[in-house]
Parts: sequence; structure tokens; C-alpha cells
Amino acid sequence: MAESNVEIAPSILAANFASLAQEIRAVEQGGVSLLHVDVMDGHFVPNISIGVPVVASLRKATRLTLDVHLMIENPERYIEPFAEAGADMISVHQEATPHLDRVLSAIREHGREAGVVINPATPVAALSEVLPTVDYVLVMSVNPGFGGQAFLPRVLGKIRQLKELRARYDYAYRIEVDGGIGPDNVVETVRAGAQILVAGTSIFHTPDPTAAVRKMRQLASEALATKV
Ligand code: DX5
Ligand code: ZN
Repeated sequence: MAESNVEIAPSILAANFASLAQEIRAVEQGGVSLLHVDVMDGHFVPNISIGVPVVASLRKATRLTLDVHLMIENPERYIEPFAEAGADMISVHQEATPHLDRVLSAIREHGREAGVVINPATPVAALSEVLPTVDYVLVMSVNPGFGGQAFLPRVLGKIRQLKELRARYDYAYRIEVDGGIGPDNVVETVRAGAQILVAGTSIFHTPDPTAAVRKMRQLASEALATKV
């Protein structure tokens, strides 16, 4: 059942890039199964982060599922390179391309999970034509481009809406949330319906990332267990 499990996806954007393998070991010990990888091009978002070669190196360094979040213009040009580099999940922004359906199909044709992302200003309604086919929907809870920003509580309504639509139409997507997630808001995001929680700062900018992950996993399972 889609809701029986919540996963924490550490975002390596907040990790020390000079010792990535060590940072990854720490969150693996905390029991995560996903690693969130933020790709930024300096055009779609103001920041520049990492690209295909880093994903290829990560693929060699870990067996964790690589959840690649593309914050780039022309995502259609980069699906194949990221798929070949070893991405397991690839998400593209609804706002980044006029050819959303084509890009999502390309991700699936490469045998990867296809996700669609919406910025805080984009309504769920903008996804109506792709919801039947996507594997996951990523709801941004900050404006993309930077780690360490404050969670925007108004996006909880969109998470609830996605959960309701899935139940009403029997869709299969998972719901992911990204930005400003930490121990203070795990419970409310899980109760709203989020199943993959991306967290960077609240994991890697702590003295003990393993403990931070464990704490968030525990909060998430408590939220599921006490759900009304
Ligand atoms: C923001 C990125 C996020 C970011 C989250 O554009 O998509 O994945 O790393 O970082 P925190 O958890 O610090 O908000
Ligand atoms: Zn992200």
C-alpha cells in the first residue's frame, strides 16, 4: 500500500562535497534507502550545483536509490546522460519545459522512475494530464535553488490534494516533498500525505547525520502509526 511507508531522502546539496562517500556512509547507517541529488544549471534556478559526472561517481560509491532532481532548462537533453550515469529516479519541473509529457516518457523509456516537480506557485491542477502516468510527484516546499530555506506550510494543501486525487482516480504516484524539512515538520508533512521527505540542512548540517536520519525516520513512523 502506497502509504504504509515513509522514506527520508537526504539531499547531498548540504553535504561536504569533499568527503561525499563518508557523508553517504553516515546516512546509510541511519537506515535510508534513497539519496536525493539536486542538479542546478544557473538558468532555471540561480544556483549551479552538480551534474552527470557526480551522479556517475555516486553510482559507484553507493547502492542507495539515486533520486535525481533536475532544476534545469531543456531537461529533455539530459535524460539519457543521467539515466546512463545511474540515476534510478529522475524528476523534471513542470515549469521547465513545454514538452513535459515527452520528457516523462523519455525517463520511462530509459527504465527509470519518472517524477514531476511543482514550484510553490504552481497549482496541482497544472499536472492533471500527467498524474495518471507519473511514478511520483515532488512538491517543492521552498522556492528551488538553495538549501537551508524555511518550509512553506501552505504547500501542505497541495500534498493533501494529491493524496485525495490519487484515491479518487486510483492513481499510483508517490508523493515527495522537498525544502525546509526537519524534525519540526516531519509529522505534519507525513499526515498530509508525503511519503518521501527530502532533507539536506537538517541532516548534514548537524554534528551527527546518522542520528538526525534516525530521528526523522522515527518521527515519520510515529506520525503514520498515530494517523487518524
Ligand atoms: C532546493 C533543493 C533541495 C534542498 C533541500 O532547491 O531542491 O533538495 O537541497 O535542502 P534543505 O533541506 O536544506 O531545505
Ligand atoms: Zn531537491
